[in-house]
Amino acid sequence: MPPKKSEAKELKALDAYFKKAIKELAGYPARQLFDYSKLFNFFTYHINNIGDPFLGPSNYRINTLEIEREVIDEFARMFHAPKDEYWGYVTNGGTESNLYGLYQARELHPEGVVFFSDQTHYSIEKNLHILRMPHVKVAASVNGEIDYQALQQALFIEKRTPIIVANIGTTMKGAVDDVVRIKEILSDLKIKQYYIHCDAAFFGMILPFLPELEVQPFDFRMNIDSIAISGHKMIGTPMPCGVILTNKKNHERMGSHIEYTGSKDSTISGSRNGLAPLFLWHELCCARKKGFEKLISGCIDKAGYTVKKFNEHGIAAWRNKNSVIVIFPKPSPKTIKRWQLATEGPISHIITLTHLSYKTIDQVVSQVALDLSPKKPKKQSGR
Ligand SMILES: Cc1ncc(COP(=O)(O)O)c(C=O)c1O
Repeated sequence: MPPKKSEAKELKALDAYFKKAIKELAGYPARQLFDYSKLFNFFTYHINNIGDPFLGPSNYRINTLEIEREVIDEFARMFHAPKDEYWGYVTNGGTESNLYGLYQARELHPEGVVFFSDQTHYSIEKNLHILRMPHVKVAASVNGEIDYQALQQALFIEKRTPIIVANIGTTMKGAVDDVVRIKEILSDLKIKQYYIHCDAAFFGMILPFLPELEVQPFDFRMNIDSIAISGHKMIGTPMPCGVILTNKKNHERMGSHIEYTGSKDSTISGSRNGLAPLFLWHELCCARKKGFEKLISGCIDKAGYTVKKFNEHGIAAWRNKNSVIVIFPKPSPKTIKRWQLATEGPISHIITLTHLSYKTIDQVVSQVALDLSPKKPKKQSGR
């Protein structure tokens, strides 16, 4: 049935609104402008991935559990999880992935205490509140990385099992906590039992595509316990989604068999979006597998260009190594609103994703420069 005229009008207006907003999206990690037209037919089904993707089909057969497993296999390869020694599923986004990592940590170490830096995404603190897990917030350095000395002191005082959240790309400054150094600290303090969860929501889809020698090591080769990655940030999907990947051994005690579904209830949600794995599979396992390196290096080059442009205007912009997040002093509220610039305290940032054109970057930089230039005193009118 064709939509009523007023509905058609409204949808057209909404479409125009989104097109304009995307052109002016400079500050949030949500990649736009992708082509999933091959998958449009699948919007005509209710696809529900209830159950555990690693346990074969559940009773509800309209699912993409097999495809979901292929997606998890691909992430496992990317993060060097040992063959057949991992488990994971496609979540609703980074927050749920973090929730799962922390939930699992609590099941393994009910007496554990969580350590993380004050630059950590707010989802961690919220999840800890839900899980009622005790935690210690540690200071971060100016670049956004955890302050290793402060971490060492905090770990030294605490006698319970540490559960450490390492940021693999902080939300505001794109800083990567050094997992090697964190492990050295644990070893120096003779702490043998611990859990490391990596929040790689955004950079989890950036760092694996850069030259290996250039990249801060953080994957399963470092014996981490779990990792959270977002699907919609760098890959770009129409709906929010993410992945939790964990060591299979850690996961064994999670969930129980449910007769009603014919599967194990080992995920946070019962009903789960069956389209999200299909979209991730399309990008990762089919369409873009080879194209990602080029795509990421293009974004990194653009970030370098943005810093240079700001600096040419005398603005002290900067970015962390391997980061597509460019930080600069906060401009006017009008500029922040127009270009959707993420802002925290005295700083704002631009994220140079594929949809952000060089022309738009130039426009934003010029506007920020105008905002930040010292205002000329108004001429006094003569008498
Ligand atoms: C580092 C980090 N972790 C977690 C999240 C939460 O992800 P989501 O918004 O997909 O729940 C974000 C979101 O920006 C993030 O930057």
